[in-house]
Amino acid sequence: MHKVDVLLGLQWGDEGKGKIVDVLTPSYDVIARFQGGPNAGHSLEFSSIKHILHTIPSGIFHDEKVNLIGNGVVIDPVVFKKEVDSLESLGVKVSENLLISRKAHLILPSHRILDAASEASKGDTKIGSTLKGIGPAYMDKTGRNGLRVGDIMLPGFLEKYRFLTGKHMEILRQYNYKDDPENYEKDWFDGTDKMRAFKFIDSEYYIDTLLKDNRKILAEGAQGTLLDIDFGSYPYVTSSNTICAGACTGLGIAPSKIGEVMGIFKAYCTRVGGGPFPTELTDKTGDLLREQGKEFGSTTGRPRRCGWLDLPALKYSIMINGVTQLIITKADVLTGIDTIKICTAYRHEGEITGHLPFDSSGKVEPVYKEFRGWKKDISAIRNCRDLPSEFNEYISYIEKETGVPVTMISLGPDRSAAVFPDKG
Ligand code: GDP
Ligand code: IMO
Ligand code: MG
Repeated sequence: MHKVDVLLGLQWGDEGKGKIVDVLTPSYDVIARFQGGPNAGHSLEFSSIKHILHTIPSGIFHDEKVNLIGNGVVIDPVVFKKEVDSLESLGVKVSENLLISRKAHLILPSHRILDAASEASKGDTKIGSTLKGIGPAYMDKTGRNGLRVGDIMLPGFLEKYRFLTGKHMEILRQYNYKDDPENYEKDWFDGTDKMRAFKFIDSEYYIDTLLKDNRKILAEGAQGTLLDIDFGSYPYVTSSNTICAGACTGLGIAPSKIGEVMGIFKAYCTRVGGGPFPTELTDKTGDLLREQGKEFGSTTGRPRRCGWLDLPALKYSIMINGVTQLIITKADVLTGIDTIKICTAYRHEGEITGHLPFDSSGKVEPVYKEFRGWKKDISAIRNCRDLPSEFNEYISYIEKETGVPVTMISLGPDRSAAVFPDKG
C-alpha cells in the first residue's frame, strides 16, 4: 500500500511550493491541501501562463488529476469563487476535478474585518498578517463557533451566519473599528452558491479508500515551518500547523500512513511581515536578492525581506517535519554574487548555539561560512552534470550538514526548470 507523501515549506513561506507541486503532480493521483487559506499564494508557470493559486491545490492544471481541499483549510467563498472563475476562463476543468472537505471552515466577511481591527490595534507589534481573516477564522474553529463547508447545505445556514456575525460585531464595537460586514455579504453568499456546485466529501474516508486502492496522494502544505502556530517564531506566525503533523490533522491521515516528507527551501531566505529574521540583509545584497528573485508577495504584493540561508533554522525544520528529501529552489537567483554566505550557528547571549532561542527579539547574531559564487547562468541547465563546481559545493555542504539528500533543484519559475540529482 502506498503512503501519503507530504510536500511543505521549511522557511517562512514562498519557497516555491506551487511550482514544485505542479512539477510532481504527474507522479500522483490526488493533490490535497491540508491547511492555511487565502493567505497562501502559490505561483505556477508553464507555456507562458503564470497563475497564482490561493485556496485550490497546485495540481489543478493537470486535467486527469483529483485535487482536494482538506478539513484543515479555511475557505473564503469570495476568494474561492474568483479563483474558480479565473481557472475556468483558462479552460481548466475545476468542478470535475476539485473536491472539498465538508469539515473545512469558512472565513466570513466579519473574520476579515476582525483581522484588520486586531492588526490595527497592535500598532508597531502587528504581525503583518495578509488580512485575509485567517487568525479569526481559526479562532472560531478552536473556540467551537465556526461555520463549516457542510453547513452550506444544511437548513439554518443563514441563521448560523447571522448569529456568528452578530458575535463579531460586538467584538468590533470594542475595537471601535468601523467597517460593516453587510457591505461584503452579497459577494460572500454568491461565493457559497458557487461552492454548492462542488462535491463535498469526508477527506478521512476518501483518503483511506484511495490508499486501500493503492492510489498515490501528495499532501500540499501552505506557508512554512517557521510560521507554524506551535513551532514558528510566535506570535509572528500564522494560525495553523504548517508542519508535517498538520497533514495528519488537516486531511485525516494516521501518522503511520505518512510516506516521503519533501521539504522545500530557497537557496536564501525571505520573510513577509513582522518577526525575527536573524540573517536578514538590509543592505545592497538584500536589495539584489529582492530584485533578482522578484521577491514581492504573491498574495499582497509586499516586498519580501531577504537574507542568507539559515542552517540552524533549516535543521530545525527538517527535525520537526521528519524531512526525507530536500528540494532547493531559486539557486539561479544567487548567480553572479561573488561570495555567498550560509549561517551555520547563532551567537546568542554570549554563546554560540545551533538552537533557535525561545525569545529571539533582535538579540541573535548569525555566524557565517563563506562560499565561492558562480558566474555561469544556471537557469537553462537541465542536466546536473552541467552545474558549476561552486554550485555543487554549496549543495554538498547543505546535504552534509543536514544529512538529507537534495532530490530536486529548481532553477527558474517555469515547470520545465528543474534538475533531479538522482536521475542525472
Ligand atoms: P509558494 O508560496 O511556496 O508557492 O511560493 P510563491 O509562489 O509565493 O513564491 C515563489 C516565487 O518564486 C514565484 O514567483 C515562483 O514563480 C518563483 N520561483 C519558484 N521556483 C523558482 C526558481 O527555482 N527560480 C526562480 N528564479 N524563481 C522561482
Ligand atoms: P505561502 O503558502 C509567506 C505570513 C504573513 C504574516 C504571517 C501571518 O504562499 O507560502 P496571516 O495572514 O496568516 O495571519 O499572516 O504569516 N504569511 C505568509 N508568508 N507565504 C505565505 O503563504 C504566508 N501566509 C502567511 O505575511 O507575517
Ligand atoms: Mg506564496
